Amino acid sequence: MEKTKRIGIINAGGDCAGINAVISSVVKSGTPLGYEFIGFERGWEGMLSPMIYRKLDLDAVRNISYLGGTILRTTNRGRFGGKTGSGNKNEIPEEILQEAKRHIDELGLGGLIVIGGDGTLSAAVQLAEYANINMVGVPKTIDNDLMSTDRTFGFSTAVSIAVSAIDKIHTTAASHERTIFVECMGRYAGWISLFAGLGGGADAILVPEFPFQMEDFIAFLRNRRKNGHYSDVVVVAEGIKINNQYSQKNHGRSSEVTLGGVSMLLMKMVEEMAPNEFEMRNVVLGHIQRGGSPNASDRILAKEYGVTAMEAYHRGDFNTVVCLRGGQMCTSPIAEAVSGLKLVTSETREYQTAKKLGVFIH
Ligand code: F6P
Repeated sequence: MEKTKRIGIINAGGDCAGINAVISSVVKSGTPLGYEFIGFERGWEGMLSPMIYRKLDLDAVRNISYLGGTILRTTNRGRFGGKTGSGNKNEIPEEILQEAKRHIDELGLGGLIVIGGDGTLSAAVQLAEYANINMVGVPKTIDNDLMSTDRTFGFSTAVSIAVSAIDKIHTTAASHERTIFVECMGRYAGWISLFAGLGGGADAILVPEFPFQMEDFIAFLRNRRKNGHYSDVVVVAEGIKINNQYSQKNHGRSSEVTLGGVSMLLMKMVEEMAPNEFEMRNVVLGHIQRGGSPNASDRILAKEYGVTAMEAYHRGDFNTVVCLRGGQMCTSPIAEAVSGLKLVTSETREYQTAKKLGVFIH
């Protein structure tokens, strides 16, 4: 087998629904073209000593597309972190890049298909530049914050999960006349909160992109009471700032900052500013948004991405990431995909719709 027909598949960073569908589609569409595959396990760690990898052939990928998580396991910590926070690039030490290159050569790989979000693809760019490795990226993250694509896979499933949680929160909030804050993931981008809030009929949606004044928010709640609404569902993105600060959880070993807990801070702040006026609770949806099987839309998108990535590799369209733009599959440079975060703007269609419906979102 010639060297260029052996491809390494790697997924790194947080898991999300649809990774297995990408892996399976790459292998199923690449095998008839004469390619063979190995999958590195535990993200980039599997490529470093002691290497952990497995052969991925048609048998290995049978019946995995509907499964959540990743058969290759993953990690968002370790020696290969590409980002440390919002936009902060982490320089991977040269000896680590060297080791990865040595292992890629030892395994006779012609290149890599890298399934990842902002952090993973930033690491991929560094490795591609350092070692001149043929690479095609696939945009994976529930956060939907990758620049080059209209949709990352995993996002739709996360939104569906959050919407079904919000449906349930509505009935209990209404029964108890409570204000319930539902905290969604998404890091520094408000996509999950915006879509889940709009889909779930939230009364307010607080996203990192649009700072708000606490006084205005409390006035909004008071106004709802005046108008006969006795309960509220407020979707809060984990990445909003309170008193100009993110709510961070320090997990120490994670290469990226971990956010979370802001809904509790918000609740305390409302209580301080409007004591005993609102009975409040908060729900942090957390990793439930990343777990379970991909929904139909993510399965289809993940399969399209897998096939498109294999096609890009086959025609030598390297150092690119596959993307969905205006309903079409295409590729764009990986460097462009990680050049900044794709954020919600006031032009975003769903943002405008929420506003026109009277949702508290600025
Ligand atoms: O980037 C995906 C994501 O799920 C974010 O939405 C969230 O902030 C983060 O990962 C959580 O990371 P961890 O799995 O380390 O808790």
